[in-house]
Amino acid sequence: TILKERKYVIINFLIIIQDTMKSLTDTFQLRNKVEIPCIGYGTWKTPDGETASVSVKTAIELGYRHIDTAAAYGNETSVGEGIRESGISREQLFVTSKVWNTERGYEKTLHAFEKTCQDLGTDYLDLYLIHWPASVNQFENWEEINISTWKAMMELYKEGRIRAIGVSNFMPHHLKALMETEIIPMVDQIEFHPGWMQNETVKYCKENMIQVEAWSPLGNGRVLNHPNLQQIAQKYGETVAQICIRWCLQHQVLPLSKSVTPSRIKENSEVFDFSLLPEDMEQIDKIENFGNSGSHPDKINF
Ligand code: A2P
Repeated sequence: TILKERKYVIINFLIIIQDTMKSLTDTFQLRNKVEIPCIGYGTWKTPDGETASVSVKTAIELGYRHIDTAAAYGNETSVGEGIRESGISREQLFVTSKVWNTERGYEKTLHAFEKTCQDLGTDYLDLYLIHWPASVNQFENWEEINISTWKAMMELYKEGRIRAIGVSNFMPHHLKALMETEIIPMVDQIEFHPGWMQNETVKYCKENMIQVEAWSPLGNGRVLNHPNLQQIAQKYGETVAQICIRWCLQHQVLPLSKSVTPSRIKENSEVFDFSLLPEDMEQIDKIENFGNSGSHPDKINF
C-alpha cells in the first residue's frame, strides 16, 4: 500500500508539473534564464510571399508569440513582414532563425546572421541555431567545422545580438564537442513526434539542460491517421494534432507547429484545457516508428 500511495503522489505531482503551461505566452526557461514561449509557430515549407506574411500575422493575432524560421526556408523577408504587420512589438515576440549548411564556419556564419537580420527586418534574434551538424559522411573534419560555426554564434551572443544560441538536428555525438566550449548550446531542435522520439538525444539534452524543441510534431501530417492516436483523441474530445502538441508539452519538449490554414493555426494553439493522463502518455510513447522524415544528420547530402 505504501508503495502504491507513493506512486499515486508521484503521479499527481507529475500531473501538476505537466499542467504548468496554461497559454501560448507561458514559457520554458533556458539555461541562461531567457524565457521561451512554450509553443512556436513553425514556417518550414511555408511558401514565401503573401502566404508566409499573412499566416505569420494570423498566428500572432491568434496569440502565438514565438516564430520559428530559417534562412533555408527562403521566407524570412515575408516572415518579417508578417511580424511587422501584426502590430505586436518586436520585444514581445520570440524570433528564431538558423544558419544554413552552406554558411558553416566562423566568417560565413557572421555574414549569414547579418543577412538573416536584414531579411527579417530586425537587429537581433532571440534564438539562432546551427541548422544541421556538419555531416560525418561529407566531412572528415566535421567536428572542427561545427566548432568554428559555434565560435561565431558565441561571439554574436556575447555581443548581445542573439539572446540564446543552440543547434538543430544534433545527436549526442555532435553535441559532445560543443560541450567543451565556453557556452553550451541552450536548445536542440530535432524531429520529434509519436513514433520518432529520439530518446537518447532527448535524455542527453535533459541531463545537460538543453531545451529540446520538436520540429514536425505531427510527423508532417503522417501521424494524423494513426488509429491509436485517433482513439485517444476521441477519448479527450480533441483532434490528433492537439494530442500530439500536448504530448510534446508534457514531455517538456517545445512543439513547433506549422500550418498556413487559419483554422488549424487556431486549433494547434488550443491545447491548454486538457491534460493527457500518464497511461495515455505511455501509450503514445509506445507507438512504433511508422515513418519519419528519413533525414539522418550523419547521412544527409544537403
Ligand atoms: P497546412 O500548413 O496546409 O495547414 P508538421 O508540423 O508535423 O511538419 O506538420 C505540418 C503539416 O501538417 C502541414 O502540411 C499542415 O498543413 C498540416 N497540419 C498542421 N496542423 C494541422 C491540423 N491541426 N490538422 C491537420 N493538418 C494539420
